[in-house]
Amino acid sequence: MNYFQNHITDVTNVLVIGCGGAGLRAAIEVKAQNLSVKVLGKRSKYDAHTVLAAGGINASFGNLDSEDSWLHHFADTYQEGYGIGDPKLIEIMAKNSLEAVSEIDKWGANLEKLNNGKLNQRFFGAHSFRRTCFSGDYTGYSILQALLKKAKSLKIPIFDSEYVSSLLIKENSCFGAMSINTISGERTTHLADSIILCTGGHTKIWKRSSSRKQENTGDGLYLSLKAGCELIDMEMVQFHPTGMLFPEEMAGTLVTEAVRGEGGRLTNSSGKRFMQDYDPERMELSTRDQVAIANYTEIVEGRGTKNGGVFLDISHKKKDFIISKIPKIYRQFIESQMLDISKEPMEVAPTAHYSMGGIKVNSEDHSTKIRGLFAAGEVAGGLHGANRLGGNSLAEILVFGKIAGKHASEYSRNIKIIKRSNDSIKKAHEEIDSLIKKGSELVVCLQADLSETMWKYCGVIKDEQNLNEGLRKVNNLENLSSSLEVNIGDNNIVDLINTLNFKASLITAKTTIKSAIERKETLGAHNRSDYPHKKNYSTYNLLSNFSNGDISIKKINTNEIKPELEYFLKNRLKASESAHKFLE
Ligand code: FUM
Repeated sequence: MNYFQNHITDVTNVLVIGCGGAGLRAAIEVKAQNLSVKVLGKRSKYDAHTVLAAGGINASFGNLDSEDSWLHHFADTYQEGYGIGDPKLIEIMAKNSLEAVSEIDKWGANLEKLNNGKLNQRFFGAHSFRRTCFSGDYTGYSILQALLKKAKSLKIPIFDSEYVSSLLIKENSCFGAMSINTISGERTTHLADSIILCTGGHTKIWKRSSSRKQENTGDGLYLSLKAGCELIDMEMVQFHPTGMLFPEEMAGTLVTEAVRGEGGRLTNSSGKRFMQDYDPERMELSTRDQVAIANYTEIVEGRGTKNGGVFLDISHKKKDFIISKIPKIYRQFIESQMLDISKEPMEVAPTAHYSMGGIKVNSEDHSTKIRGLFAAGEVAGGLHGANRLGGNSLAEILVFGKIAGKHASEYSRNIKIIKRSNDSIKKAHEEIDSLIKKGSELVVCLQADLSETMWKYCGVIKDEQNLNEGLRKVNNLENLSSSLEVNIGDNNIVDLINTLNFKASLITAKTTIKSAIERKETLGAHNRSDYPHKKNYSTYNLLSNFSNGDISIKKINTNEIKPELEYFLKNRLKASESAHKFLE
């Protein structure tokens, strides 16, 4: 086939892949820098995964607790990440989130205000102070709407039915991407001076996940690995403590941390507030890793509910209060279970929620190992370490989306020569073509097997034997994937898109399991029953590389923390002490 006659080519200064919050914020910044920009997304821009970060966005305004400061935000994030988060990234987020939150509110995010006009702030797990700004329990949705409005006013083109199958690389530089229209199957070669990946994580590959269909399948992580980037700490997967259990089609759906932030209590089948046994000081407002492990333990040790969960109860609060603070959750339970949460408790269990690992980026500018390629948002790693604090993901997407947009623009403006290669474009076409064939396996079945495997062998608690068995099963699925039946008919390329997602999911699953085998300790969200001693910090990160079709893992030392920040960490009031103060 002569690919160069049959495909569309389109050129821009900066190409943004991903139309969630990070992608939109990056694109807005490129426009502000007076360069041309285009955004591609595989799902509807109105319903990006950003909408699921429900409960809030962190910035240390201190509107209710005047002692708060960016230093405390830094310290909470660093400490509760068990010391393996990159201190520089954390410092940038903690300092810049104040401006980012004020800006998004000005752009129409409609965050809740106090009587004095300042932003209201709620308590979220393991924060020393009330720091999480919010619009009810639909903060991600409000932020996404504000970004879309801004992007529209700037006439930023967003194409949200484009699946990117390859990044185009020549001599270690990225010069564009190949995409397939998810409706027509038409391919486009996008040429750009620089590219920003904002494609989310890979938690849809667990059976119970807070992600929806086609979200967080690991495609951006896979694109970056194939291009030559490194991934950091892929074993660090956050299980949100509270996902729905039923009905089946809703299993895993997030029950926002705002429920606990507004006073919700966790109890087991005998009515005990069991967090007393796990973190008596912070109780339900402990870190996500600890609450998830507590819920998991109660369930597997037989103290859970009939349906295999624990109870989350906010019925001691007034109905008006519940409807004003968590309206979406109120509706969600009425609509799906006919359960009035102002009268009865919810049943919840851990659900795979967030990839804390991701593409290794330069802390200052979010560039990657590949020239011209930048990354921001969940697809990038290094910020959260071994445990992400609720509300930091929305701060992350705004702060680092802007930074990646600024530096990608600078790169585009200053680049002297761009080498492009028809061979790379041809290879990207051939990669797609090679998938379309007759075979004996159906991708949806293999996808289901993969998510069962990840849940069973690489779930909330892991050990070497199970991880090895999981890896064996993933390798087996990889072998079967060479016999997939992939048809493309008139306007039907669902098989092909599922297959591309599945290939990405397989490699990211493998990366996660191999990293999990390599980290021989229990740290934050990484619970190894064969290394039961819980550590409070660690001194290394794990880097994953992809070459010759396989993943290799290497250890590196964590980045050093500035002496003045270390001093602050050692001398401040501990988070648990101030949280305790609030709970009283
Ligand atoms: O529980 C939540 O509302 C989730 C927030 C987050 O992941 O940051």
